[in-house]
Amino acid sequence: MVPAPREPGRYRVAMVCLGNICRSPMADVVLRAKLAQAGLDDRVEVQSCGTGGWHVGEPMDRRAAATLREAGYDGSAHRAQQFTAAWLDHHDLVLAMDTDNLAAVGGRSDRVMLLRDLDPDGPGEVPDPYYGGESGFTEVLAMVERCCDALVHDVAPLVR
Ligand code: 4NP
Repeated sequence: MVPAPREPGRYRVAMVCLGNICRSPMADVVLRAKLAQAGLDDRVEVQSCGTGGWHVGEPMDRRAAATLREAGYDGSAHRAQQFTAAWLDHHDLVLAMDTDNLAAVGGRSDRVMLLRDLDPDGPGEVPDPYYGGESGFTEVLAMVERCCDALVHDVAPLVR
């Protein structure tokens, strides 16, 4: 279950990870694509950010971009942003990739949960692929795609 919109007919989703160059940008790009396929991209706003500021203004990690590109997504427009508490006021739903990210944004609330709480294959974390090999990015993409399908399904009746 996802929370109700603050504004009828609109929904705002934020994806949050540590650096905003791997996991949350992948989730952002995949969710945008799935919303466009569902005809909901004019009613649902998607953004992503990192709890750390090291990469602000940079494009996503080249491995993340390549994994998306091979699966038919375009991540080239992404530029990293850093989380601030204002994101909690602006968004209807804030989705953290792991429990460290969740703690860094202030923990669970009505509008803050883990992305994988939506995973039809069961809850968990989206593991940080930054220091690992290519397979980590493929694993992240599969998790993100499952969760974003579920999210589009859950949000659609709230904005239609
Ligand atoms: P992300 O991965 O949180 O999925 O974007 C990371 C990217 C960069 C760093 C850590 C994690 N870093 O330490 O710079």
